[in-house]
Amino acid sequence: LNTMSENTELTKGHFRKGFMWGAATASYQIEGAWNEDGKGQSIWDTFVHTGHIEDGTNGDITCDSYHKYQEDINMLKNLKATHYRFSLSWSRLLPTADSSTPNPAGVDFYNKFIDALLASNIKPCVTIYHWDLPQCLQDIGGWQSDDIVEKFREYSDFCFSQFGDRVKLWITINEPHVQCGFGYGNGIHAPGIKDPLNACYQVSRTMLLAHAHAYRVYDTKYRKTQNGQISITLNSDWCEPKDPTNPEHVKAAQFYIDVTLGWFANPVYGDGDFPASMKKSQGLEKSRLPTLTEEEKKLIKGTYDFFGLNHYTTRLAEPVSEATQDYLMHPDLAVYVHPDSSWERAGLIKNEVPEWLYIVPNGLRKLLNYISKTYGDPSIIITENGCSTKNPVNDPGDTKQLVDEQRCCYITSYLNEALKAHLLDGVDLRGYFLWTLMDNFEWAAGHTERFGLHHVDFSDGNQTRTPRKSAAIYTKIIEENGFSAS
Ligand code: GAL
Repeated sequence: LNTMSENTELTKGHFRKGFMWGAATASYQIEGAWNEDGKGQSIWDTFVHTGHIEDGTNGDITCDSYHKYQEDINMLKNLKATHYRFSLSWSRLLPTADSSTPNPAGVDFYNKFIDALLASNIKPCVTIYHWDLPQCLQDIGGWQSDDIVEKFREYSDFCFSQFGDRVKLWITINEPHVQCGFGYGNGIHAPGIKDPLNACYQVSRTMLLAHAHAYRVYDTKYRKTQNGQISITLNSDWCEPKDPTNPEHVKAAQFYIDVTLGWFANPVYGDGDFPASMKKSQGLEKSRLPTLTEEEKKLIKGTYDFFGLNHYTTRLAEPVSEATQDYLMHPDLAVYVHPDSSWERAGLIKNEVPEWLYIVPNGLRKLLNYISKTYGDPSIIITENGCSTKNPVNDPGDTKQLVDEQRCCYITSYLNEALKAHLLDGVDLRGYFLWTLMDNFEWAAGHTERFGLHHVDFSDGNQTRTPRKSAAIYTKIIEENGFSAS
């Protein structure tokens, strides 16, 4: 599996029996009701109210799922989804981040929601933390303070105690890599800290420890009675050497994967420690990465029941003589990554520069194989995969982009590559969650970038949801549990 030039024909066949089919969202991106019924403020509330967002929008109302959750469930039912991945808002549940004084209305909201999902025969997959840290915790240092580890343990414990009788699939933390890079490196996400040489690395330790403690609490206190599964969700691009015959290019691609995937995957799924290649830092005697003690490594290692993977796109890598500071996430990454000129672009062009998303379906198959081989064949759940609408649009008459042919192709081809990984390569793939159920608040891009199977009208006062063509395409694949002969 070394080159991208492989057969791209669709393979027929089915995913395993009981395969989980779902869509994914996150609390801040869909709930709205940012200051209702006793909810505390999160760092995203603070961040959006002080600028920072491309189109000046915010998550105050967004899809209004706090009030319209039954509509969301109806959409999931129409999709024939078996599962739904959503996240809990920490500050809605624990406004002061203290589990002895929860917000009853917040607890009630998630109880009602989980019950309604189950009544529709849809199983919840719950992310405990998808980036919306309570502001009160940020005020005492956020992820830069060791105190957060105990706070997260306490919060997770609370979630298991309240919802674990019905929730059997848990994700502790979503994409620590992006939080480190965007929240603490280039600062384009909340809490907006621009410290790529220091904080960006330091917070990776507290996130790993917080995850590990949450896992251990579940393991020792709840697993026996609740009988669920719990892990972390990591995001990664696939990456290939630009010139596969050049060892320097091969090294560059491997380093990119070490930094995007290995940074968190090695500690949890590997030997408990950060990748060796990342410990060297340019021009420094000491690594920028914090050192994990033997005890910490032991605590973190093996804290998973499955591998939660978010994947969107692929890159080519080649070495450059010096790490450029404009790739702020990794100041030591003396690697230049870029798309191939032949790859089709999804998503946005801003200021005449295409954004990040290119459609490279077999990158997913290769990444699944890489994870399987590198980390001892874990069960894998794809917890996010999807694409945003391309601009400029092909049909200016279809302003809602309801005929989203490109997304239909993306879903079909990526899922077919996932099927190949399962059928032909023997990867232990258990489920797939499409990002995302409906257009929502896409972080720093606000409403400029839309990933939804459903269009949402953010201006009609009703947040009207309308299915796109891709919703029907996805349903067909779900109904067939893959790709049937027809
Ligand atoms: C992921 C993130 C999601 C969503 C998606 C699309 O990194 O977990 O919340 O925004 O990207 O950009």
